[in-house]
Amino acid sequence: MEWSFSISVVLFLTLLIQIHGSGYLDHKQARGFAENYGCNLFQGSWVYDDSYPLYETSQCPFIEREFDCQNNGRPDKFYLKYRWQPAGCNLTRFNGEDFLTRLRGKSIMFVGDSLGLNQWQSLTCMLHIAMPQAPYNLARNGDVSIFTFLTYDVKVMFSRNALLVDIVGESIGRVLKLDSIQAGQTWKGIEVMIFDSWHWWIHTGRKQPWDLIQVGNHTYRDMDRLVAYEIALNTWAKWVDYNIDPTRTRVFFQGVSPDHQNPAQWGEPRANLCEGQTRPILGFRYPGGPLPAELVLEKVLRAMQKPVYLLDITTLSQLRIDGHPSVYGFGGHLDPDCSHWCLAGVPDTWNELLYASLVKN
Ligand SMILES: *[C@@H]1O[C@H](CO)[C@@H](O)[C@H](O)[C@H]1NC(C)=O
Ligand SMILES: *[C@@H]1O[C@H](CO)[C@@H](O)[C@H](O)[C@H]1NC(C)=O
Repeated sequence: MEWSFSISVVLFLTLLIQIHGSGYLDHKQARGFAENYGCNLFQGSWVYDDSYPLYETSQCPFIEREFDCQNNGRPDKFYLKYRWQPAGCNLTRFNGEDFLTRLRGKSIMFVGDSLGLNQWQSLTCMLHIAMPQAPYNLARNGDVSIFTFLTYDVKVMFSRNALLVDIVGESIGRVLKLDSIQAGQTWKGIEVMIFDSWHWWIHTGRKQPWDLIQVGNHTYRDMDRLVAYEIALNTWAKWVDYNIDPTRTRVFFQGVSPDHQNPAQWGEPRANLCEGQTRPILGFRYPGGPLPAELVLEKVLRAMQKPVYLLDITTLSQLRIDGHPSVYGFGGHLDPDCSHWCLAGVPDTWNELLYASLVKN
Protein backbone atom coordinates (compact mmCIF):
# COMPACT_ATOMS: atom_id res chain seq x y z
CA MET A 1 0.00 0.00 0.00
CA GLU A 2 2.68 2.44 1.10
CA TRP A 3 4.95 1.17 -1.65
CA SER A 4 2.37 1.67 -4.42
CA PHE A 5 1.46 5.03 -2.98
CA SER A 6 5.01 6.30 -3.25
CA ILE A 7 5.33 4.85 -6.75
CA SER A 8 2.23 6.77 -7.75
CA VAL A 9 3.68 9.93 -6.23
CA VAL A 10 6.94 9.48 -8.13
CA LEU A 11 5.07 8.78 -11.38
CA PHE A 12 2.85 11.75 -10.82
CA LEU A 13 5.81 14.03 -10.17
CA THR A 14 7.64 12.68 -13.21
CA LEU A 15 4.58 13.31 -15.32
CA LEU A 16 4.29 16.85 -13.97
CA ILE A 17 7.93 17.53 -14.75
CA GLN A 18 7.50 16.10 -18.23
CA ILE A 19 4.40 18.09 -18.99
CA HIS A 20 5.99 21.21 -17.72
CA GLY A 21 9.46 20.47 -19.04
CA SER A 22 8.46 19.47 -22.57
CA GLY A 23 6.40 22.52 -23.25
CA TYR A 24 8.34 25.09 -21.37
CA LEU A 25 9.81 27.77 -23.56
CA ASP A 26 12.84 29.53 -22.25
CA HIS A 27 13.42 33.12 -23.17
CA LYS A 28 15.21 32.30 -26.41
CA GLN A 29 12.63 29.77 -27.55
CA ALA A 30 9.83 32.20 -26.94
CA ARG A 31 11.57 34.22 -29.61
CA GLY A 32 11.97 30.90 -31.39
CA PHE A 33 12.13 31.72 -35.05
CA ALA A 34 14.56 34.55 -34.47
CA GLU A 35 17.02 32.03 -33.11
CA ASN A 36 16.30 29.50 -35.87
CA TYR A 37 16.99 32.18 -38.42
CA GLY A 38 20.59 32.26 -37.21
CA CYS A 39 20.41 35.66 -35.58
CA ASN A 40 17.97 37.71 -33.62
CA LEU A 41 16.07 39.56 -36.33
CA PHE A 42 14.74 42.06 -33.82
CA GLN A 43 18.08 43.44 -32.68
CA GLY A 44 19.47 45.93 -35.11
CA SER A 45 19.02 49.46 -36.37
CA TRP A 46 17.29 51.51 -39.05
CA VAL A 47 19.36 52.36 -42.12
CA TYR A 48 18.56 54.79 -44.93
CA ASP A 49 17.71 52.88 -48.11
CA ASP A 50 16.67 54.69 -51.25
CA SER A 51 14.86 51.63 -52.62
CA TYR A 52 12.18 52.10 -49.92
CA PRO A 53 9.21 52.42 -49.44
CA LEU A 54 8.06 49.00 -50.63
CA TYR A 55 4.96 50.57 -52.26
CA GLU A 56 3.19 53.81 -53.01
CA THR A 57 -0.16 54.01 -51.26
CA SER A 58 -1.66 55.52 -54.44
CA GLN A 59 -1.30 51.98 -55.88
CA CYS A 60 -3.25 50.50 -52.98
CA PRO A 61 -6.89 51.43 -53.68
CA PHE A 62 -8.32 50.04 -50.45
CA ILE A 63 -5.99 51.81 -48.00
CA GLU A 64 -7.81 53.35 -45.03
CA ARG A 65 -7.55 57.11 -44.92
CA GLU A 66 -6.31 57.17 -41.34
CA PHE A 67 -3.00 55.51 -42.32
CA ASP A 68 -2.50 57.30 -45.65
CA CYS A 69 -0.28 60.09 -44.32
CA GLN A 70 1.05 61.36 -47.65
CA ASN A 71 -2.46 61.71 -48.99
CA ASN A 72 -3.45 63.48 -45.77
CA GLY A 73 -0.82 66.13 -46.46
CA ARG A 74 2.29 64.94 -44.65
CA PRO A 75 5.05 67.01 -46.27
CA ASP A 76 8.20 65.04 -45.37
CA LYS A 77 9.29 61.75 -46.95
CA PHE A 78 12.44 60.65 -45.15
CA TYR A 79 10.41 58.43 -42.83
CA LEU A 80 9.52 56.28 -45.88
CA LYS A 81 13.16 55.55 -46.65
CA TYR A 82 14.31 53.40 -43.77
CA ARG A 83 14.97 49.69 -43.81
CA TRP A 84 15.36 47.53 -40.72
CA GLN A 85 18.85 46.03 -40.58
CA PRO A 86 19.30 43.20 -38.05
CA ALA A 87 22.73 43.37 -36.41
CA GLY A 88 23.71 39.75 -37.12
CA CYS A 89 22.26 38.95 -40.56
CA ASN A 90 20.37 40.26 -43.55
CA LEU A 91 16.62 40.08 -43.87
CA THR A 92 15.19 38.37 -46.99
CA ARG A 93 13.47 40.97 -49.15
CA PHE A 94 9.69 40.60 -49.12
CA ASN A 95 8.43 38.54 -52.07
CA GLY A 96 4.65 38.79 -52.41
CA GLU A 97 4.37 36.11 -55.09
CA ASP A 98 6.34 33.66 -52.97
CA PHE A 99 4.23 34.55 -49.94
CA LEU A 100 0.98 33.83 -51.79
CA THR A 101 2.36 30.63 -53.31
CA ARG A 102 3.41 29.29 -49.92
CA LEU A 103 0.01 30.09 -48.47
CA ARG A 104 -2.03 28.76 -51.40
CA GLY A 105 -5.39 27.46 -50.17
CA LYS A 106 -4.76 28.77 -46.66
CA SER A 107 -5.99 31.50 -44.36
CA ILE A 108 -4.14 34.00 -42.29
CA MET A 109 -5.91 36.03 -39.62
CA PHE A 110 -4.96 39.02 -37.53
CA VAL A 111 -6.95 39.21 -34.31
CA GLY A 112 -6.68 42.29 -32.16
CA ASP A 113 -7.01 46.05 -32.07
CA SER A 114 -6.23 48.77 -34.61
CA LEU A 115 -2.52 47.94 -34.46
CA GLY A 116 -3.51 44.56 -35.91
CA LEU A 117 -5.59 46.46 -38.46
CA ASN A 118 -2.52 48.56 -39.26
CA GLN A 119 -0.44 45.43 -39.96
CA TRP A 120 -3.26 43.72 -41.90
CA GLN A 121 -3.64 46.80 -44.13
CA SER A 122 0.08 46.89 -44.71
CA LEU A 123 0.16 43.21 -45.68
CA THR A 124 -2.80 43.45 -48.06
CA CYS A 125 -1.16 46.47 -49.76
CA MET A 126 2.23 44.72 -49.97
CA LEU A 127 0.62 41.63 -51.53
CA HIS A 128 -1.63 43.54 -53.90
CA ILE A 129 1.20 45.72 -55.16
CA ALA A 130 3.47 42.68 -55.61
CA MET A 131 0.74 40.96 -57.68
CA PRO A 132 -1.37 43.80 -59.11
CA GLN A 133 -2.97 41.53 -61.73
CA ALA A 134 -4.08 38.94 -59.18
CA PRO A 135 -7.85 39.31 -58.75
CA TYR A 136 -8.98 40.01 -55.22
CA ASN A 137 -12.14 40.48 -53.26
CA LEU A 138 -12.55 42.53 -50.09
CA ALA A 139 -15.55 41.70 -47.91
CA ARG A 140 -16.78 42.36 -44.44
CA ASN A 141 -18.58 39.89 -42.20
CA GLY A 142 -19.48 41.44 -38.86
CA ASP A 143 -16.21 42.39 -37.18
CA VAL A 144 -14.12 40.44 -39.66
CA SER A 145 -12.58 41.94 -42.79
CA ILE A 146 -11.72 39.31 -45.39
CA PHE A 147 -9.28 39.99 -48.21
CA THR A 148 -9.21 37.09 -50.68
CA PHE A 149 -6.65 36.54 -53.44
CA LEU A 150 -8.97 34.54 -55.66
CA THR A 151 -6.51 32.68 -57.90
CA TYR A 152 -4.36 31.68 -54.94
CA ASP A 153 -7.35 30.94 -52.70
CA VAL A 154 -5.55 32.81 -49.92
CA LYS A 155 -7.58 34.69 -47.32
CA VAL A 156 -5.95 37.48 -45.33
CA MET A 157 -8.33 38.44 -42.54
CA PHE A 158 -8.61 40.91 -39.72
CA SER A 159 -10.90 40.24 -36.77
CA ARG A 160 -11.40 43.24 -34.52
CA ASN A 161 -11.16 42.01 -30.95
CA ALA A 162 -9.23 44.51 -28.87
CA LEU A 163 -9.19 42.63 -25.55
CA LEU A 164 -9.29 39.00 -26.79
CA VAL A 165 -11.40 37.97 -23.76
CA ASP A 166 -15.18 38.59 -23.56
CA ILE A 167 -17.32 41.57 -22.69
CA VAL A 168 -20.88 40.47 -21.82
CA GLY A 169 -23.86 42.79 -21.38
CA GLU A 170 -25.58 41.87 -18.10
CA SER A 171 -28.08 43.56 -15.79
CA ILE A 172 -25.18 44.94 -13.73
CA GLY A 173 -23.58 46.50 -16.84
CA ARG A 174 -20.95 45.54 -19.41
CA VAL A 175 -18.84 42.89 -17.74
CA LEU A 176 -15.26 42.24 -18.87
CA LYS A 177 -14.69 38.53 -18.17
CA LEU A 178 -10.99 37.96 -17.83
CA ASP A 179 -11.32 34.18 -17.82
CA SER A 180 -13.70 33.71 -20.74
CA ILE A 181 -12.79 33.62 -24.43
CA GLN A 182 -15.85 32.77 -26.55
CA ALA A 183 -14.36 34.26 -29.71
CA GLY A 184 -11.94 31.35 -29.82
CA GLN A 185 -14.63 29.33 -31.60
CA THR A 186 -14.04 31.42 -34.74
CA TRP A 187 -10.26 30.96 -34.70
CA LYS A 188 -10.24 27.22 -35.34
CA GLY A 189 -8.84 25.84 -38.60
CA ILE A 190 -6.92 28.96 -39.63
CA GLU A 191 -3.32 28.22 -40.62
CA VAL A 192 -1.59 31.43 -39.55
CA MET A 193 -2.83 33.53 -36.64
CA ILE A 194 -1.34 36.82 -35.48
CA PHE A 195 -2.74 38.19 -32.24
CA ASP A 196 -2.26 41.55 -30.59
CA SER A 197 -3.71 43.32 -27.56
CA TRP A 198 -2.74 46.04 -25.15
CA HIS A 199 -3.86 49.56 -26.10
CA TRP A 200 -7.49 49.13 -25.00
CA TRP A 201 -6.49 47.87 -21.57
CA ILE A 202 -5.53 51.35 -20.47
CA HIS A 203 -8.70 53.19 -21.54
CA THR A 204 -10.74 54.86 -18.83
CA GLY A 205 -13.86 57.02 -18.75
CA ARG A 206 -15.92 57.16 -21.93
CA LYS A 207 -13.40 55.18 -23.99
CA GLN A 208 -13.48 52.22 -21.60
CA PRO A 209 -15.71 49.57 -23.20
CA TRP A 210 -16.67 47.80 -19.95
CA ASP A 211 -18.22 48.79 -16.59
CA LEU A 212 -17.08 45.93 -14.36
CA ILE A 213 -14.32 43.34 -14.39
CA GLN A 214 -14.98 39.72 -13.45
CA VAL A 215 -12.54 36.93 -12.61
CA GLY A 216 -14.03 33.64 -11.44
CA ASN A 217 -16.84 34.53 -9.03
CA HIS A 218 -15.39 37.91 -8.11
CA THR A 219 -16.52 41.17 -9.63
CA TYR A 220 -14.39 44.32 -9.41
CA ARG A 221 -15.10 47.99 -10.16
CA ASP A 222 -11.55 48.31 -11.44
CA MET A 223 -8.15 46.73 -11.02
CA ASP A 224 -4.53 47.34 -11.94
CA ARG A 225 -4.62 47.21 -15.72
CA LEU A 226 -1.33 45.31 -16.07
CA VAL A 227 -2.71 42.67 -13.69
CA ALA A 228 -5.96 42.43 -15.69
CA TYR A 229 -3.94 42.20 -18.91
CA GLU A 230 -1.86 39.35 -17.52
CA ILE A 231 -4.92 37.37 -16.38
CA ALA A 232 -6.55 37.82 -19.80
CA LEU A 233 -3.37 36.82 -21.64
CA ASN A 234 -3.17 33.69 -19.51
CA THR A 235 -6.75 32.87 -20.49
CA TRP A 236 -5.75 33.31 -24.13
CA ALA A 237 -2.61 31.20 -23.57
CA LYS A 238 -4.67 28.37 -22.08
CA TRP A 239 -7.01 28.53 -25.07
CA VAL A 240 -4.05 28.17 -27.45
CA ASP A 241 -2.50 25.37 -25.40
CA TYR A 242 -5.76 23.38 -25.47
CA ASN A 243 -6.97 24.13 -28.99
CA ILE A 244 -4.09 24.73 -31.38
CA ASP A 245 -2.43 21.91 -33.29
CA PRO A 246 1.04 23.30 -34.03
CA THR A 247 1.46 21.01 -37.03
CA ARG A 248 -1.48 22.80 -38.68
CA THR A 249 -1.42 26.31 -37.28
CA ARG A 250 1.35 28.83 -36.70
CA VAL A 251 0.58 31.27 -33.92
CA PHE A 252 2.23 34.67 -33.67
CA PHE A 253 1.81 37.42 -31.15
CA GLN A 254 2.56 40.95 -32.26
CA GLY A 255 4.75 42.54 -29.59
CA VAL A 256 3.36 45.64 -27.88
CA SER A 257 3.41 48.55 -30.32
CA PRO A 258 4.76 51.70 -28.64
CA ASP A 259 3.12 55.12 -28.44
CA HIS A 260 5.19 58.26 -28.68
CA GLN A 261 3.14 60.60 -26.53
CA ASN A 262 5.98 61.58 -24.24
CA PRO A 263 8.95 63.29 -25.92
CA ALA A 264 10.88 63.27 -22.63
CA GLN A 265 11.41 59.55 -23.30
CA TRP A 266 13.62 60.34 -26.24
CA GLY A 267 15.15 63.50 -24.83
CA GLU A 268 13.01 66.22 -26.43
CA PRO A 269 10.80 67.36 -23.57
CA ARG A 270 9.71 70.49 -25.45
CA ALA A 271 8.47 68.66 -28.55
CA ASN A 272 4.70 68.46 -29.10
CA LEU A 273 4.02 64.72 -28.79
CA CYS A 274 5.39 63.07 -31.93
CA GLU A 275 4.55 66.03 -34.16
CA GLY A 276 7.27 67.17 -36.52
CA GLN A 277 9.51 64.12 -36.05
CA THR A 278 11.04 63.29 -39.41
CA ARG A 279 13.89 60.86 -38.62
CA PRO A 280 14.15 57.67 -36.57
CA ILE A 281 16.39 57.33 -33.57
CA LEU A 282 19.57 55.84 -34.98
CA GLY A 283 21.36 53.12 -33.05
CA PHE A 284 20.19 50.09 -31.12
CA ARG A 285 18.76 51.50 -27.94
CA TYR A 286 15.59 53.43 -27.12
CA PRO A 287 16.35 55.85 -24.28
CA GLY A 288 12.86 55.38 -22.77
CA GLY A 289 13.58 51.72 -21.91
CA PRO A 290 11.27 48.69 -22.24
CA LEU A 291 7.47 48.77 -21.95
CA PRO A 292 5.97 47.10 -18.85
CA ALA A 293 3.17 45.55 -20.94
CA GLU A 294 5.73 43.94 -23.25
CA LEU A 295 7.45 42.34 -20.24
CA VAL A 296 4.09 40.90 -19.11
CA LEU A 297 3.45 39.53 -22.59
CA GLU A 298 6.89 37.88 -22.75
CA LYS A 299 6.34 36.31 -19.34
CA VAL A 300 3.01 34.77 -20.42
CA LEU A 301 4.41 33.46 -23.73
CA ARG A 302 7.43 31.91 -21.97
CA ALA A 303 5.18 29.78 -19.76
CA MET A 304 3.11 28.35 -22.64
CA GLN A 305 3.20 24.73 -23.80
CA LYS A 306 2.52 25.32 -27.49
CA PRO A 307 5.00 27.28 -29.59
CA VAL A 308 3.95 30.87 -30.04
CA TYR A 309 6.24 33.18 -31.90
CA LEU A 310 6.66 36.64 -30.55
CA LEU A 311 6.88 39.13 -33.37
CA ASP A 312 9.13 41.18 -31.19
CA ILE A 313 8.58 44.56 -32.80
CA THR A 314 8.54 46.72 -29.68
CA THR A 315 12.09 48.05 -29.63
CA LEU A 316 12.44 48.53 -33.37
CA SER A 317 9.17 50.46 -33.39
CA GLN A 318 10.18 52.52 -30.35
CA LEU A 319 13.03 53.84 -32.47
CA ARG A 320 10.50 55.16 -35.03
CA ILE A 321 9.40 58.40 -33.39
CA ASP A 322 8.92 59.63 -36.98
CA GLY A 323 6.57 56.82 -38.06
CA HIS A 324 3.19 57.98 -36.71
CA PRO A 325 0.48 59.90 -38.57
CA SER A 326 0.61 62.65 -35.90
CA VAL A 327 -1.49 65.49 -37.37
CA TYR A 328 -1.79 63.67 -40.73
CA GLY A 329 -4.16 60.98 -39.49
CA PHE A 330 -7.91 61.13 -38.83
CA GLY A 331 -7.79 63.54 -35.94
CA GLY A 332 -5.70 66.26 -37.57
CA HIS A 333 -4.48 68.96 -35.20
CA LEU A 334 -7.36 68.32 -32.77
CA ASP A 335 -6.27 64.80 -31.98
CA PRO A 336 -2.73 64.00 -33.21
CA ASP A 337 -2.18 60.25 -33.61
CA CYS A 338 1.08 59.05 -32.06
CA SER A 339 -0.07 55.39 -31.68
CA HIS A 340 -0.86 54.12 -35.16
CA TRP A 341 1.62 54.10 -38.01
CA CYS A 342 1.69 55.70 -41.43
CA LEU A 343 1.48 53.38 -44.42
CA ALA A 344 3.76 52.85 -46.20
CA GLY A 345 5.84 52.62 -43.04
CA VAL A 346 6.77 50.71 -39.92
CA PRO A 347 4.14 47.89 -40.16
CA ASP A 348 5.66 46.96 -43.55
CA THR A 349 8.76 45.98 -41.59
CA TRP A 350 6.62 43.93 -39.17
CA ASN A 351 5.38 42.05 -42.24
CA GLU A 352 8.89 41.62 -43.65
CA LEU A 353 9.73 39.97 -40.31
CA LEU A 354 6.58 37.84 -40.44
CA TYR A 355 7.52 36.75 -43.96
CA ALA A 356 11.10 35.96 -42.93
CA SER A 357 9.83 33.72 -40.14
CA LEU A 358 7.34 31.91 -42.38
CA VAL A 359 10.02 31.32 -45.03
CA LYS A 360 12.58 30.03 -42.57
CA ASN A 361 10.24 27.62 -40.80
C1 LIG B 1 24.59 41.46 -45.63
O1 LIG B 1 24.63 42.16 -46.86
C2 LIG B 1 25.78 42.98 -47.02
C3 LIG B 1 25.60 43.80 -48.28
O2 LIG B 1 25.10 43.04 -49.32
C4 LIG B 1 27.02 42.10 -47.03
O3 LIG B 1 28.18 42.89 -47.16
C5 LIG B 1 27.08 41.32 -45.72
O4 LIG B 1 28.17 40.42 -45.73
C6 LIG B 1 25.79 40.55 -45.49
N1 LIG B 1 25.83 40.00 -44.12
C7 LIG B 1 25.50 38.73 -43.84
C8 LIG B 1 25.59 38.32 -42.41
O5 LIG B 1 25.14 37.95 -44.70
C1 LIG C 1 -18.57 30.07 -8.09
O1 LIG C 1 -19.95 30.07 -7.83
C2 LIG C 1 -20.60 28.85 -8.21
C3 LIG C 1 -22.12 29.01 -8.04
O2 LIG C 1 -22.41 29.78 -6.93
C4 LIG C 1 -20.01 27.70 -7.38
O3 LIG C 1 -20.62 26.48 -7.75
C5 LIG C 1 -18.52 27.63 -7.64
O4 LIG C 1 -17.93 26.65 -6.83
C6 LIG C 1 -17.84 28.96 -7.38
N1 LIG C 1 -16.46 28.90 -7.83
C7 LIG C 1 -15.44 29.30 -7.09
C8 LIG C 1 -14.10 29.18 -7.74
O5 LIG C 1 -15.57 29.78 -5.99
